[in-house]
Amino acid sequence: MSQLANRVEQISPFQVMAILGRAKEIQAQGVDVIHLEVGEPDFVASEAVKNAGVDAIEQGLTGYTSATGLPQLKQKIAAHYQDKYQVEVDPNRIIVTPGASGALQLLASLMVDAGKNVLMPDPCYPCNRHFLIQVGANANLVATSAADNFEIPIEKIDTLWNESTTGMWLASPANPTGAVLSKAYIQSALDKVTHLGGHLMIDEIYQGLVYEGEDFTALSLSDDIFVINSFSKYFAMTGWRLGWIVVPEWAIEAATKLAQNFFISAPTISQYAALEAFSESSMGEFEQRRLVLDERRKLLVSGLEGMGLKPVVPAQGAFYIYVDVSSITDDAMSWCLDLLEAEAVALTPGADFGKEQAHKYVRFAYTCDTSRLQQALARIKTFIEARS
Ligand SMILES: Cc1ncc(COP(=O)(O)O)c(C=O)c1O
Repeated sequence: MSQLANRVEQISPFQVMAILGRAKEIQAQGVDVIHLEVGEPDFVASEAVKNAGVDAIEQGLTGYTSATGLPQLKQKIAAHYQDKYQVEVDPNRIIVTPGASGALQLLASLMVDAGKNVLMPDPCYPCNRHFLIQVGANANLVATSAADNFEIPIEKIDTLWNESTTGMWLASPANPTGAVLSKAYIQSALDKVTHLGGHLMIDEIYQGLVYEGEDFTALSLSDDIFVINSFSKYFAMTGWRLGWIVVPEWAIEAATKLAQNFFISAPTISQYAALEAFSESSMGEFEQRRLVLDERRKLLVSGLEGMGLKPVVPAQGAFYIYVDVSSITDDAMSWCLDLLEAEAVALTPGADFGKEQAHKYVRFAYTCDTSRLQQALARIKTFIEARS
């Protein structure tokens, strides 16, 4: 009889799959479902990127690249940091990976031994803790509160840290809250973690999608920090499976060795296509989209507030709004399922992102246009009124 590895038991599927599965069923019956559960832009790659991808295929540029990525792509990423964020990054510190997912797996193997743990705020991106389980380690999830912007309070880090803690993983802008960390917070976290002998990782996958507050990179604070990014969100290239990690100089050789073994290389066609992601025309398209997202965000926030569903923290970035529904239900998961059945609006329950208080929250992704958002708001209003 086949026997799965024990660690598989510790990896949970996304709760939103239950919602997605049911949404697909009722959609197949002809019901018009509005999808606000999907953490994926409703935009596609820019014209220039698409054309470069086709050119790469036609020119037969389809073999492996060097393990850490095409040198010219690493140059472009470094130039992007310089042009947009005025930060100098040595291209040799950039490792191109299959999505941010590949970068997170690489980081777990690079920095976390079996039996160790990493501090992370609860709520956070759920796969992070699974990447740690994969290397025999664990996430040390710290319950955070809306009052603290869902940040781990710096003054608590000393007591949360134990002899097995090796670092702290954060994200800004964050999934699921849309919160943006301040420079001052990241600097204090870095100082504290460095003092304790650990590493700091900032997942900047939603970088560029900032509507309030400062859009910056943690690399502006230090070279001794791990920064993860991706072409999935701002560049709208989810299925191209391309991301990157910037590592400190002392970690380049080890990270390269792991990239060689894990991936051989990131997808080649995507890498050639991504060379065009930083062109003036592409960046112009992305900025236009950011403005579109901001318009949607404002519409959704004011519509939800009109129903008494205020975002728990200002939705400053990414394309998410995190809402406390505890005044109308004591179980957000069943509330989401009931809303789907009654009004065909799909949302993601908080339970996907954490354990503490998760039953109180729901995540809205504004990944559909304003007319659909207006329809969604009207349906949610009908749903709430019918139950009150
Ligand atoms: C915070 C965060 N990190 C990483 C990822 C993984 O993204 P990808 O592998 O598509 O780059 C996601 C995807 O939603 C995310 O929200």
